[in-house]
Amino acid sequence: MTAQFPLVPTDHPTPPQTREEILADPGFGRHFTDHMATAVWSPDAGWHDQRVGALEPFTMHPGAAVLHYAQEILEGLKAFRHADGSVWLFRPELNARRFAASARRMVLPELDEETFVESVAALVRADEAWVPPYGGEQSLYLRPFMFASEAFLGVRPAQQVTYCVLACPAGSYFPNGVTGVTLWVSTTYSRASIGGTGAAKCGGNYAASLAPQREALGHGCEQVLYLGGEGRRSIDESGTMNVFFVTRDHQLLTPGLGTILDGVTRDSVLTLAAEHGLEPVQRTIDLDEMRDGFADGSMTEAFAAGTAAVITPIIGLKSDDFALTIGDGAPGKYTQQFRERLLDIQSGRAADTHGWMRRV
Ligand code: COI
Repeated sequence: MTAQFPLVPTDHPTPPQTREEILADPGFGRHFTDHMATAVWSPDAGWHDQRVGALEPFTMHPGAAVLHYAQEILEGLKAFRHADGSVWLFRPELNARRFAASARRMVLPELDEETFVESVAALVRADEAWVPPYGGEQSLYLRPFMFASEAFLGVRPAQQVTYCVLACPAGSYFPNGVTGVTLWVSTTYSRASIGGTGAAKCGGNYAASLAPQREALGHGCEQVLYLGGEGRRSIDESGTMNVFFVTRDHQLLTPGLGTILDGVTRDSVLTLAAEHGLEPVQRTIDLDEMRDGFADGSMTEAFAAGTAAVITPIIGLKSDDFALTIGDGAPGKYTQQFRERLLDIQSGRAADTHGWMRRV
C-alpha cells in the first residue's frame, strides 16, 4: 500500500517577496523550499514516520555510518508548471525504479515505486508556490536521497536509514548550457569499472568526480568525458550527464548500459530519436572512432543529456594529445531539436504522446 506523507506545515515560511526574488533568478541548487519529505527505516518497523515537515537540519550522531562509509544514494527529477497553472512531474516512476536499483547495489532498503512518487508529489504540493512560472526554462528540481543514519563503525549495512526529499527552484545547470560546453577527456581518471558502482546513483561517485572535474576546469573545460572499457579506450559518460553523437548517416549513438547511469533523459532521447529521423544505436564507442569521426565529418554533432543539464550541446573536446571543435562550435540542428522537443513536452506545449507526465 502506498504510504502517505501528511503535511506538518512550517511555522516560518519564506516571505512571498523573498520567494519571488529567488524565483526570478534561482540558479541551480542554491535555494531550498520551505519543506522536506522524510521517512525512517529500521529492520523491525520497516518504513515509518513518513511526513512532509519544515526544512530543518538533521540531528545526527557523529558515528552515523554514512559519514564514514558513504552508504548513500540519490535521485534527481523535476516538476514543471504548465500554462494553465497545473504542476507535473516528468517520468517519476523511472527515478523510483533507478532509486530501488541503487538501493540494492548499496544494500539500503528499497522504497516501493508508489511511495517514492507520493513522497515527491506530497512535497511539491506543500511547496507548490515554489514551482517557477510557466514560460521560462525553469523548474522545481527534486532531490530524493537515502542514507545510513545508524551510529555504528563496523562495515556492514546500516540498521537505521533515513529517507528525505528536498526541493530547489532551478534554472540552467551550466551558465552556458544552451550555447554549449567543452569536455575534457581525462586519461588520468576513470569514473567506473565493470562490477563497480558506476550504474548506481550514489554520492561516492560524485565525490570521486571532484578531482577529475578540477582537472577539466584547469584545462578550460566545463566537465569531464570519462573513458572506460578495455584499456580505457571507449566513451563512458560525463559525470552528471550521458553523452550522444549524431552521425552523417543519421544514427544517434550512445554508449550501452553497464557502467554508466541509466539516465531518464537518455531513455527519453532514445525514444524520441525516430521522430527526428534518427536511428538510435546503443553500443561501445571507441575514443579513436569519435576523434576520427569528427575529423572526417562522419560524426556531426555531440550533446549531453541529464535531468539537471537537460540537453547540453557539446561544442568541443580536449585531451592531452588533441583538441577539436565540433561542427562550427555552435549547437547542432538535432541537438536543438531534442532540447526543444523535450522542454515542450515537459512544459505542456507539445502533446504528451508517450504518457510521460504525471500531474501532481
Ligand atoms: C541530475 O541530473 O539530476 C543529477 O543528478 C546530476 C547532478 C548531480 C547535478
